[in-house]
Amino acid sequence: MKGSVVLLLVAAISLGLIATAEGSDFRLSRSVLPSFYNLTINIQSGRWSKLGSTFIGEVAITLQANQKDIYEITLHKDSLDISSCLIYNYDGLLQQNVSIASLKYDRETQKLTVPLLDPLPVNVNYTLYFQYKGYIGYNETGLFSRGCMTDQFHKVILTQMDPVYARRVFPCFDEPAFKAKFELHIGRPSGYKIISNTLLFKTTYEKGNDWCVDHFDVTPIMSTYLLYFVISEYRDPGYTSDTAFFYDVGDRTLLTFNDLFEVPYKELWNEVLRFAMAPWFKNTVCVNRNLTLFRYYSFIQFIMTSINFAIFFSDRMLAHKPGHTDNHRNKELTCRAVSHELAKTWFGKSVTISWWSHLWLSVGFTTYYDSFITNKFCSMYNLNTQFVVNNLQRVLENDAAVTSLPLTSPEIEIQSPHEINEQYNAFIADKGASIIRMWRNLMDVDNFNKSIKSYLKEFHLKNVEPSDLFAHLKRNWPAQPEVDLDTFFADFTEQPGYPMVIVNISDDNQRVVLHQKRFLYDPEDGSDATLRYTIPITFCTNLDFKCDETTLYTYFNKNRSTVEIFFDKPIEWIILNLDQSNYYRVFYDKPILSKIKIFFSNFISYRLPQTSHAQIVDDLFNFAHAGMIDYADVFEFLEYPKREFQYFPWKAAYHGMERVVRRLTPQQLPHFEKYLRNITSRAFKALSVKSRKSEEVLQLYHRELQVSWLCKYQNANCNDQAKFIFDGNFEKPIQDYRETFYCAVSRTSSHAGIWRLYHNETDEDEKALLMRAIGCTRDYRTFLQLELLHLIPNSGQLITFKQIYKQNPDLVTPILETIIEDIEELS
Ligand SMILES: *[C@@H]1O[C@H](CO)[C@@H](O)[C@H](O)[C@H]1NC(C)=O
Ligand SMILES: *[C@@H]1O[C@H](CO)[C@@H](O)[C@H](O)[C@H]1NC(C)=O
Ligand SMILES: *[C@@H]1O[C@H](CO)[C@@H](O)[C@H](O)[C@H]1NC(C)=O
Ligand SMILES: *[C@@H]1O[C@H](CO)[C@@H](O)[C@H](O)[C@H]1NC(C)=O
Repeated sequence: MKGSVVLLLVAAISLGLIATAEGSDFRLSRSVLPSFYNLTINIQSGRWSKLGSTFIGEVAITLQANQKDIYEITLHKDSLDISSCLIYNYDGLLQQNVSIASLKYDRETQKLTVPLLDPLPVNVNYTLYFQYKGYIGYNETGLFSRGCMTDQFHKVILTQMDPVYARRVFPCFDEPAFKAKFELHIGRPSGYKIISNTLLFKTTYEKGNDWCVDHFDVTPIMSTYLLYFVISEYRDPGYTSDTAFFYDVGDRTLLTFNDLFEVPYKELWNEVLRFAMAPWFKNTVCVNRNLTLFRYYSFIQFIMTSINFAIFFSDRMLAHKPGHTDNHRNKELTCRAVSHELAKTWFGKSVTISWWSHLWLSVGFTTYYDSFITNKFCSMYNLNTQFVVNNLQRVLENDAAVTSLPLTSPEIEIQSPHEINEQYNAFIADKGASIIRMWRNLMDVDNFNKSIKSYLKEFHLKNVEPSDLFAHLKRNWPAQPEVDLDTFFADFTEQPGYPMVIVNISDDNQRVVLHQKRFLYDPEDGSDATLRYTIPITFCTNLDFKCDETTLYTYFNKNRSTVEIFFDKPIEWIILNLDQSNYYRVFYDKPILSKIKIFFSNFISYRLPQTSHAQIVDDLFNFAHAGMIDYADVFEFLEYPKREFQYFPWKAAYHGMERVVRRLTPQQLPHFEKYLRNITSRAFKALSVKSRKSEEVLQLYHRELQVSWLCKYQNANCNDQAKFIFDGNFEKPIQDYRETFYCAVSRTSSHAGIWRLYHNETDEDEKALLMRAIGCTRDYRTFLQLELLHLIPNSGQLITFKQIYKQNPDLVTPILETIIEDIEELS
């Protein structure tokens, strides 16, 4: 009696300890390892469609115990109703018919435990078999469907296993380190097309010709989250000619990767490489019938949760229909998307992360390669420079607060399906890519490529963690300057945030002193402001004008308080972190900054990469945002772009201004408009409102940027030009620029012309574009009245309503007053 009380107490204490120390245990034990899944999915027919919303699954999992006394097998499942569970021994003889009632299931961890009568023999193949019913939902998880109505109901069934949804399709060991081979069989009604990871080797027909089963080749060894299949009515969509650009990019990207990694795709994986478009249906009506139905995934979703291997593109990425989807922005997207998805073959399928806390080893590299591989043949988009202003500078903003996270989280912090899903975010992808870019520049591209090649070879079909990558980088790292690489790698992957380097100069201008400090918008927000980093220092000065080289001067060792640089002669200016190559900001003391401003006003500064201009502009706005300097100083510095004609510094400047203009009072607004007119006058004169045929893409992007800002902030010249071009012998502007141009025209007295275009237009997308442009009108009274009279069609209404005050910052007050006056009628 006494003994059992004590035992109970001990049990209670240890349970309590487990619960508080670790929370729920989401991870599977590695004592039982699967090697092969034989999976059959039978799609059931439904009331509205031959493809219903349930399926019957069967899976036979070959597995082995690698230690003695294994009395249970634990694996994952989610929303599957199991009807049968059997265990077969090595000879295929039934060993145990497991009663369904004896299966243990934990809803929170999604772990299913199968109790065994006899322990598993060690290192002998046994087979665990399940029969079950599963569900085809509408959320993009597990097996899901999309449908839409024309004369009849159309449906497509897709999978999303990544990261934790294979368990919604079959019971499985649903962690990336449990790699196995898969043999897939799909039973379904006849009349559909089906694709999966591997080639379809045979389709057998049953029940006359109404039902068939597709049999696929066995896959290479891979993680559960990579399995996919699609059942659809795909017909030849008839725009083969529109996919030429896509194929070209796909073909060449594949060849480039094959050469670069020296493990060709075909050998690496299998013979199948498919690109598919996934459907998007507005209100379950199949829109845009003649163009295409397939539009479901937007780019961001696609980057974050792309279905693996069948690569799902929206139509604007895959098919470039002349005059509709063949514009530059779409083609740029294609360039990036193709290389991003192809890179997943090497960084994901071949070499797989061992756990989700290392996700940056996949998404960091795929994001890195989407900007740095296509560049050869998508060179007009200058993706490697766009990376700096669009990815690196944006992630530096997200990495400067208490919410920022290290790239590599401790495994224990990424456990539940929710935590795993949260890992898929732009922050990890962009920061990972930025850090990889930094390493590449430091070790130089040949050494970097060598490291990546050997890393990919060593871990082909295996799992990795960051130290595996680091070992290969270290092997090829240049010996000079000296650095403790382990610390350097850890500083930027295991610590959150990043430093700023503070730059001072001596009175004689011959000695530069550097300090470091973590950059935070608010050092009091709970972040650890004391973190220090190993910082690669690069610079150029007027004495040694090799500003396009990122040769390293030294590493700022985190244990040293300063780095000093001495010069034989006084220097005029110094610029650090060339090409924003490394992951930090630079804070120049005032005297240096004013010298840099003078230098930037000189055309000779064009020999600097555009990124170096953009970087200083971006840094200054962020120092002002953090309250470290006055916005007045930033705007004063920005007077230099009177001579700035390049796109990227402007892109950074407008991004910074966006944060500022949101806070301008009606009294301040005219001052800002005047300032803007002043600093942009020369750049705008060079660009003008009129677009030119066959001009460079970046010039086109630049015009779009300037015109959208200048016409919005009441630059009379901008507005007059827009009206003049439109009223004259006007040609439809190219698609990338059309909305900006129409919006500019809408602000002028020619706005009725945009209405006429709208009424005359039949294409849905073009109508939506025109409706957004109409929202830029300054005639808000008429607009609101039309709104009242329901003359503005429903679909565009909300967009336009938002547009009218967003696009007319100087009219916000009267617009709101009018709305308030009419609020009853409006409501
Ligand atoms: C997989 O299952 C199918 C259907 O039950 C069967 O025909 C096939 O032989 C199995 N494959 C292997 C390798 O056991
Ligand atoms: C166990 O099964 C796997 C997959 O079917 C196979 O590759 C392996 O050779 C088998 N092992 C033994 C000892 O039979
Ligand atoms: C160095 O520059 C910082 C930033 O402008 C400034 O706050 C500091 O006083 C300077 N230190 C010296 C010694 O000039
Ligand atoms: C409207 O469309 C017709 C036929 O396509 C065309 O002739 C006419 O010029 C268009 N009107 C406007 C204002 O675009």
